[in-house]
Amino acid sequence: MSTTEGNQAYTEGDRAAIDRAGQADAFDAIGDRYDEAFPHKEGQLAAGAWLAGQLPAGSRVLDVGCGTGVPTARQLFEAGHRVTGIDISPGMLKLSRDNVPGAEFHRMDIADLENHDLGPFDGITAFFALLMLPRDEIPVALRMLHGQLNPGGVLALGMVEADVDDFAIPFLGNTIRVSGYLRDELRQVVRDAGFEIAGEESFTYAPASTDVPPEIQIFLHCRRS
Ligand SMILES: C[S@@+](CC[C@H](N)C(=O)[O-])C[C@H]1O[C@@H](n2cnc3c(N)ncnc32)[C@H](O)[C@@H]1O
Repeated sequence: MSTTEGNQAYTEGDRAAIDRAGQADAFDAIGDRYDEAFPHKEGQLAAGAWLAGQLPAGSRVLDVGCGTGVPTARQLFEAGHRVTGIDISPGMLKLSRDNVPGAEFHRMDIADLENHDLGPFDGITAFFALLMLPRDEIPVALRMLHGQLNPGGVLALGMVEADVDDFAIPFLGNTIRVSGYLRDELRQVVRDAGFEIAGEESFTYAPASTDVPPEIQIFLHCRRS
């Protein structure tokens, strides 16, 4: 995975090498069981509240990998922002449109975002979405998100602390591939993409489903520097 100068982060070569086999299908099958398995979202809500509070009402906010739209797209909309969500799963998008009719949603792979005219945005949330990418793509995606933000724009990032790369795990009766970093490396990857880290919170999270192992969630409050 390589990068180019300027705003374009993904090259044509990068895009051609991408393999998403099964990722959207898995989330189509999971549907609203996702929210049942992860009912307690204090960390995510706190990071969403931080971002919402950084921006004047009416700001444009992108929710990457929006899932069911709950809690984040709904929280941002209810805070008075203009919310756009993207996701690769048609099933998740159906739920998000039903859950947050006042926001707009697009079926889109994160890697295709820079080829559409959705931005620029004042804020971006990416909760447990970038961990769906192979590790060598995460810095590229972060740089691309940086390019989608207006100067001074903010990013709230949620990841699971784990030293894994494109690792297949069973998840609510399906198989998904996930990647992650230990926290020092995560901070470095985020800074290298051009963000300043303004805050950080971590939570030990035990999902309601025994089909999903406990995890440490890390939320970074980032500003485009
Ligand atoms: C773990 S869920 C998180 C959902 C939501 N952000 C939340 O925290 O409640 C990951 C979401 O990212 C979506 N996703 C996975 N790979 C993606 C990609 N390459 N581009 C856009 N969305 C993706 C999945 O369909 C799923 O809805």
